[in-house]
Amino acid sequence: MTAVLTADAVSFSYGREPAIDSVSLSIEPGEFVALVGPNGSGKTTLLRVLLGLVRPQRGTVTVLGEDPRELRDRGRVGYVPQRHRLDPELPVTVAELVATGRLARRGWWRRFNTEDHEAIDHAIDAVALSGVRKRPVAELSGGQQQRVMIARALASNPDLLVLDEPVAGVDAESQRLVRDSLGHIVRELAAAVLLVSHELGAVADDLDRVIVLKRSVLFDGPPDELAARGVSLGIHASDLPLWLEDLG
Ligand SMILES: Nc1ncnc2c1ncn2[C@@H]1O[C@H](COP(=O)(O)OP(=O)(O)O)[C@@H](O)[C@H]1O
Ligand SMILES: [Mg+2]
Repeated sequence: MTAVLTADAVSFSYGREPAIDSVSLSIEPGEFVALVGPNGSGKTTLLRVLLGLVRPQRGTVTVLGEDPRELRDRGRVGYVPQRHRLDPELPVTVAELVATGRLARRGWWRRFNTEDHEAIDHAIDAVALSGVRKRPVAELSGGQQQRVMIARALASNPDLLVLDEPVAGVDAESQRLVRDSLGHIVRELAAAVLLVSHELGAVADDLDRVIVLKRSVLFDGPPDELAARGVSLGIHASDLPLWLEDLG
């Protein structure tokens, strides 16, 4: 079984100080991994390097066995970036926006077939938005829009789904629905999931592994091992620096 993702001694700097320093990790097919760390600890930067959106100054990354910058089948990787606020003027429905996620798999020149439509419907179902599939996305709440973006990433049936703080700043109901759908995605779709989030309490039972990042990797192991070190998974961003001291 080959890893869906590997990083070997990866470093990246915007300026003089490294944002991530010699990070190594790997994710196996179907694994559910959380990436946590205080604000500014390099989580988003690491995701961008792992996805091939920026090139690391040092180290190597592979996604599905390939250089992420040369990945042939981009639809095999889904990405939900941090702070996605959709343009309120965007004249598309939920189903239409989710369908664009399917293009990565089908190619834009081909007509959608039954399998495509099923994948789109299934993705909308997985984030509990079937009731609003014909509504313009601009009319939805922030939390619902965030779920649309998750469904869009799911529509290509990715082998790896990467989410950057998908529940930050959304209403409680959407937080719960996002967590439920992540559990569903991991169990039913067998996709590997790499989740950046401060709110891990509700997904703790489903998590295989937690990686704690503060420029470099401070901890990488199962959640109960982290708990055994006295670190709670119901962490709030403001408490993170405190318990990081203990991992040091
Ligand atoms: N585009 C950028 N240009 C310059 N510095 C950046 C940029 N993006 C992030 N940084 C800096 O890199 C560090 C890591 O940021 P980031 O990866 O966004 O952390 P996190 O996602 O954990 O909050 C921070 O010090 C941040 O200020
Ligand atoms: Mg970030």
